[in-house]
Amino acid sequence: MPLGHLMQGEPHTDTPGVTIGAPHAYELFAAVCFAGRRNRAFSRLAAASGAEPGDRVLDVGCGTGYLTRRMAARVGPDGAVTGVDPSPPVLAYARNKKQRPGSAPCTYREGVAESLDLPDGAFDAVVTSLMLHHLPEELRPAALREMHRVLRPGGRLLVVEFRPPKSRLGRHLVHGGAGHAMAHNRVDLLDGLVTDAGFEVSGHGDVRPWLYCVRARRTQ
Ligand SMILES: C[S@@+](CC[C@H](N)C(=O)[O-])C[C@H]1O[C@@H](n2cnc3c(N)ncnc32)[C@H](O)[C@@H]1O
Repeated sequence: MPLGHLMQGEPHTDTPGVTIGAPHAYELFAAVCFAGRRNRAFSRLAAASGAEPGDRVLDVGCGTGYLTRRMAARVGPDGAVTGVDPSPPVLAYARNKKQRPGSAPCTYREGVAESLDLPDGAFDAVVTSLMLHHLPEELRPAALREMHRVLRPGGRLLVVEFRPPKSRLGRHLVHGGAGHAMAHNRVDLLDGLVTDAGFEVSGHGDVRPWLYCVRARRTQ
């Protein structure tokens, strides 16, 4: 069994998505995988999200809140950040983490990406990192349509995913450590998924060491 599967939560009644049930183990796993480069990578992502001071931001599949907190620092005390995840243990972990001074308040809610219990047009920016590969492929379009629905027209989307190594050996190692979904993650399909959900893609690219992101805008 891949090491990463030890962090998984019990099957959730509201989603077939694979949840994280062991937040401390997840944090340790992430620290090892990013080898000291996690903060820099996620701070870059927060900047790439296009969120501005005062914005209302949603982080879908927020997990332990690592990106959520960086978004809160980015939008500052006049903003507001909401993190949604189906897993109560990761939400409890996120709620207990200290925020940087001058950050927006973070609110964490239980919920699922494919059916967000949030009003239309309620956010200026939506971010989601390393979540889509936790959903069965057939639910990913619904999750992106929900992100489109809760964004205001003109709002920004940032989708971040794991970019598997190109070499067969690299993918083999990822398979052993994290499992099939990460080792064979189809980041090449992301732009199309985002476009099909109604967004206009404004950019994409790699963020070292392992990430790929797509930036997009809700045009109407
Ligand atoms: C690899 S973690 C990423 C967490 C966080 N975004 C980060 O970058 O560290 C994937 C997260 O997706 C969550 N997840 C699983 N199914 C989901 C669903 N249907 N809707 C929203 N989140 C889901 C898991 O519970 C987990 O916290």
